[in-house]
Amino acid sequence: MKLNRYAILLISLLGSSAAMAQAAVVDVFKSPHCGCCGKWVEHLRQNGFEVKTHDVDDVSAARQKLGMPDRLGSCHSAKIGGYVVEGHVPAADIQRLLKEKPKALGLSVPSMPPGSPGMESAKPMPYQTLLVQSDGSTRVFAQH
Ligand code: CU
Ligand code: CU
Repeated sequence: MKLNRYAILLISLLGSSAAMAQAAVVDVFKSPHCGCCGKWVEHLRQNGFEVKTHDVDDVSAARQKLGMPDRLGSCHSAKIGGYVVEGHVPAADIQRLLKEKPKALGLSVPSMPPGSPGMESAKPMPYQTLLVQSDGSTRVFAQH
């Protein structure tokens, strides 16, 4: 009887962690020739995300399809848990997004600021992660 209860607890724990892992799958759309994209993917994996990469010929077409405005564009676009993540967004910001679940299209680190994850640099620059709405409006989500 007691053992059964433990078994049920164990099964429900395993079930919920499997569901969490599933929610953390990131689909990344990137150019096959982009080195920094690969480094960002590595950064996500090191932070516990499961990443599926999709090489595309036209990165901006993929971005447009996801609804991310061109002016907020970077070198790769991603989809996770119903959100769009553009560019070299730190894993911690994505984890916060998934936890807080704000009403938004997603996050963007426009362009490719040196010092962002995957853009490691001897001369890092301050940059912002933007919370992007589907009408293209933004507000600062995190300052780095
Ligand atoms: Cu890049
Ligand atoms: Cu990239």
